[in-house]
Amino acid sequence: MSKITTATLLKMKQQGQKISTITAYDASFAKLFDQAGIHAILIGDSLGMVLQGHDDTLPVSIEDMAYHTHCVSKGVKETLIISDMPFMSYATKEQSFENAAKLMQSGANMVKMEGGSWLVETIKGLIERGIPVCGHLGLTPQSVHLLGGFRIQGREESQALDMIKQAKELEEAGVQLLVLECIPNKLGQAITQAVTIPTIGIGAGQHTDGQILVMHDALGISCSYMPKFSRNFLIDTGDIKKAIELYISEVSEGHFPGPEHIFK
Ligand code: KIV
Repeated sequence: MSKITTATLLKMKQQGQKISTITAYDASFAKLFDQAGIHAILIGDSLGMVLQGHDDTLPVSIEDMAYHTHCVSKGVKETLIISDMPFMSYATKEQSFENAAKLMQSGANMVKMEGGSWLVETIKGLIERGIPVCGHLGLTPQSVHLLGGFRIQGREESQALDMIKQAKELEEAGVQLLVLECIPNKLGQAITQAVTIPTIGIGAGQHTDGQILVMHDALGISCSYMPKFSRNFLIDTGDIKKAIELYISEVSEGHFPGPEHIFK
């Protein structure tokens, strides 16, 4: 296989093929996931929780993100590499240009930012400067204190309609991929139908164009707590590469997420 790009993922959506993505933070896991055939790896700012042990992602710095992006890029041959812009690293357009450049120079192929309408001008500016952007709507963990905790978003009709509107605005601004986190199954479906770019869900139901999991959840490493939307694929396989191959095939065949993993 050759290098996976945003064009590959768009074609997969158009052909009805499901996209599998996972987080990684170092070269060894990234290499294994790449060899297993994962379509995209996200260096998520979830590293603040799963690697650094914080209660949320807010303490993560751009230097942390650049370091782990560089590590992942050393393990990857084909997989698309997406790197998270951490808390307050894109509060202004100028900050976003400077910090997105750091991630791209560390090996990212695309940057991800949490938020809707307020990001439109920033996204346009990044794209004009040659930086592909992935959006992120629904539960946006960098706003956890504003949201009052890690809660399902978009349950009320007005919230749901607003999220569909914001997804379209992000698409118009130029995002090429959209992560949807912790929203009802029906809303995941409505947003996926409303945009032409691929949607990648985490707790966003069965109808998104692809899925993403935090690697620690997919491998059962966060043993004290397993989110409802996740599954431990290592239990069924006993081998990390086989676990990721199983995840990819379960997503591709529409078996994951199952009814037990979705929010109504
Ligand atoms: O930081 C992260 O790992 C993420 C995923 C949960 C989508 O943003």
